[in-house]
Amino acid sequence: MYKINLIYVQAKLLECIKFILYHCNMSREKDDFYPTPDYATHSFIKHYDIREGSPHVWSKDVWEPACGDGAISKILEKDYDMRVVSTDLVDRGYGQSGIDFLMETKIQAPWVVTNPPYKLANEFVMKCLDFMEQEQHFNGFAMLLRLAFLEGQGRHDKIFSRKAPSKVMVFSKRLTMIRGDHDEAWYGSGKMAFAWFIWDRIEKDTVLTWIND
Ligand SMILES: C[S@@+](CC[C@H](N)C(=O)[O-])C[C@H]1O[C@@H](n2cnc3c(N)ncnc32)[C@H](O)[C@@H]1O
Repeated sequence: MYKINLIYVQAKLLECIKFILYHCNMSREKDDFYPTPDYATHSFIKHYDIREGSPHVWSKDVWEPACGDGAISKILEKDYDMRVVSTDLVDRGYGQSGIDFLMETKIQAPWVVTNPPYKLANEFVMKCLDFMEQEQHFNGFAMLLRLAFLEGQGRHDKIFSRKAPSKVMVFSKRLTMIRGDHDEAWYGSGKMAFAWFIWDRIEKDTVLTWIND
């Protein structure tokens, strides 16, 4: 009886440690590697198919500039017949590594689609806004971001007042984001509110929709 209780206490203790690590920055992967769940990429194309939009946004060519292990790129290529240039700062066994997106000066495709590193989300969006202003062939970009990206005075001043997103597609069901080097069993499910934020050259006002598949 005493033995069973000890095992129970140990298991609870481990759970607590995991919980604390998960919710503290201590546990964050250095370069923010959290692969996108397949469902999120399929939902993007289902609800905003950049292959078939108006001629102005139409493009089968995409740049995934923080491709990780290719979670988004592979689906766009294999399931939607798109051509994806995949780059990342870190070698994760997919695409071209050693490329810091924030240092890039030329676009690799008319669209960017990515789930950026969270701690550099503002910088990634601002970099794409620069491209939109500087490169007339850059048609738009889609980023999988936390829903909370919408808030914040600083972000409003730096990003939304410069150009509001054309579309925000909110996931009604929270997404499970797991560190790329751990599995769900280790962390439990880190469910978070996410949305696809899309900036294109067409819409002037922000359209808000829900992904409720
Ligand atoms: C949240 S993960 C997402 C990976 C992939 N986009 C996906 O959807 O599965 C962010 C990725 O950004 C990469 N990264 C971090 N800083 C970067 C930078 N400055 N330039 C390019 N990639 C970067 C990380 O190595 C990591 O693979």
